[in-house]
Amino acid sequence: MKIAPISEELFQRAQHSIPGGVNSPVRAFRAVGGNPRFMVSAKGPYMYDEDGNRYMEFINSWGPMILGHAAEIVQEAVQQAIPNSLSFGAPTRKEIEIAELIVDMVPSIEKVRMVNSGTEATMSAVRVARGYTGRNKMIKFEGCYHGHGDSFLIAAGSGAITLGVPDSPGVTQGVAADTLTAPFNDLEAVKTLVEANKDQIAAIILEPVAGNMGLVLPEAGFLQGLRDLCTKEGIVLIFDEVMTGFRLAPGGAQQLFGVTPDMTTLGKIIGGGMPVGAYGGKKEIMNFVAPAGPVYQAGTLSGNPIAMSAGMAMLQYLHAHPEVYTNLEQTTSKMVNGMKQNMQELGMNFTINHVGSMFSIFFTEQPVTDFESAKTSDTALFGRYFNAMLQRGVYLAPSQYESLFVSTAITDELVQEYLKANSEALKEALLR
Ligand SMILES: Cc1ncc(COP(=O)(O)O)c(C=O)c1O
Repeated sequence: MKIAPISEELFQRAQHSIPGGVNSPVRAFRAVGGNPRFMVSAKGPYMYDEDGNRYMEFINSWGPMILGHAAEIVQEAVQQAIPNSLSFGAPTRKEIEIAELIVDMVPSIEKVRMVNSGTEATMSAVRVARGYTGRNKMIKFEGCYHGHGDSFLIAAGSGAITLGVPDSPGVTQGVAADTLTAPFNDLEAVKTLVEANKDQIAAIILEPVAGNMGLVLPEAGFLQGLRDLCTKEGIVLIFDEVMTGFRLAPGGAQQLFGVTPDMTTLGKIIGGGMPVGAYGGKKEIMNFVAPAGPVYQAGTLSGNPIAMSAGMAMLQYLHAHPEVYTNLEQTTSKMVNGMKQNMQELGMNFTINHVGSMFSIFFTEQPVTDFESAKTSDTALFGRYFNAMLQRGVYLAPSQYESLFVSTAITDELVQEYLKANSEALKEALLR
């Protein structure tokens, strides 16, 4: 049984100086009940909290830690870069090297601009799409999250659903009016929107595999259908691969599904755990970005040398070791198959969505293909299950509406430990 009195005390203290006691909402455990654990260190598959508890964990810092925590190649690259100063505010060789590597790895990217977060990447990409097309509106999908830029906080997925505020106060009507939304996987709804807003849509943006309403996969033909529609209508197709980039394949979901967008946004793994994002795409579009073109976008710390060193080490490793993806898929399949068996034995209603090293468990009898079906999951049961897993030293994402991530640090032995905890936790969650 894990108890965490020091974390409890820190959480009380944090609330005096930090809104809600955390620097990002989902960390607060509100959706699952209980208080967050405050971490002090992490190595490989484990995180350690202030109370000395150890957790086998499946959030990977919400995605970046695909090689497990404190991966030596990344740590060493950072240590080597530090003595040369933490920032220059002037260009460096490393920025060219990482740009060349990204261009090499991601099919749609011919030119790329580095930023500091996924939010900056998506905000900037849409601005560029608007500048390039001379149009104002964009289409996003219900339950997809693209960071906290104003125009994306409409039907925004995970953090927002978790808190029960799908549309945030502070976003003006004017901004909201330019964001049109369609259900994920509903190509006909998109076509209807495009028809009704002829020559006004600058961009269609989506997570090609949605990870922010829980994991939801694109149905056959959906991504290609969007590609064809965008080509026909002169709309910029943006794949937000902040989560899926370098996670599902070296070239992300676009490589896995063989559909090439016009622009791509990246984050998470690209920084190896440091705050990095990027957006890129076709040359003719990216040449609109300042100083090459008229669309302004800038950043004091963009292309920061320490962050670039961490990201470069991570990407070089993944580029050179494509077997990482087959191994991760095998590990995750073992987990998913074991969980299915556990739940079938207990006669439970469930759907597990899975691709590569990402998966989500939904406690519902329906297939989960969009935000509406994701919402049929029993979130109270999920909360009890989450806490029962935590008590057994397994740290899952503290929300139904998140994807879980498996890292290369999860061995076969740990899969067995995970499945044992899973079986016990499910029984406990069902009892209460
Ligand atoms: C698909 C997607 N886009 C954008 C973002 C925003 O990235 P950041 O939190 O780095 O601003 C996230 C964050 O989870 C994401 O999952």
